[in-house]
Amino acid sequence: MKIRRLIADELPRLREYWKKHWGDEFVIAHGVIYRPDTLDGFVTLDGDEWVGEVTYTLTGDDCEIVSIDSLREGQGIGTQLLKQAVEQARKKDCKRIFLITTNDNLNALGFYQKRGFELVAIHRRAVNESRKIKPSIPFVGMNNIPLRDEIELELVL
Ligand SMILES: CC(C)(COP(=O)(O)OP(=O)(O)OC[C@H]1O[C@@H](n2cnc3c(N)ncnc32)[C@H](O)[C@@H]1OP(=O)(O)O)[C@@H](O)C(=O)NCCC(=O)NCCS
Repeated sequence: MKIRRLIADELPRLREYWKKHWGDEFVIAHGVIYRPDTLDGFVTLDGDEWVGEVTYTLTGDDCEIVSIDSLREGQGIGTQLLKQAVEQARKKDCKRIFLITTNDNLNALGFYQKRGFELVAIHRRAVNESRKIKPSIPFVGMNNIPLRDEIELELVL
């Protein structure tokens, strides 16, 4: 498997990937709609197949991870993608890197905290607001937990 930067030609493929794995061609976090066209990222490849991706955006001193996922969990793909995003944020002199996950995603909450991220805020019921824009967001999320809050985590660089 190898990891490499996402290239502009691959934006349609990323849109399809998000649609297939995340229900739509855009991601919504803290009321902002993110589309692949405005993001940088990396993909993990097994031959030609995408088995992981991370996207992020830089705003001032902040780097926000917009999406990260691994289709083959427990093999180091997620860690490598996260590391790449952190490295890019450092290179761009960002002061912090942050991301939004949701209250149901216990795995992600553990994953990030084990890698130095800290919880900084809970945006209560923010997912309920996102669902108005993106109806494909389910009411019951991972681990059979009602899906409703956004949780912000950050790593100070
Ligand atoms: C969160 C997520 C990105 C993690 O990706 P991943 O590829 O499973 O991550 P890794 O394999 O690097 O690490 C996961 C665990 O596997 C272990 N692991 C890593 N390499 C391994 C290997 N070769 N063999 C066995 N275990 C391994 C790691 O130690 C880690 O355990 P730890 O967290 O207790 O340290 C992934 O679970 C995912 O895509 N989830 C669904 C999408 C999602 O929720 N994204 C986040 C939204 S905010």
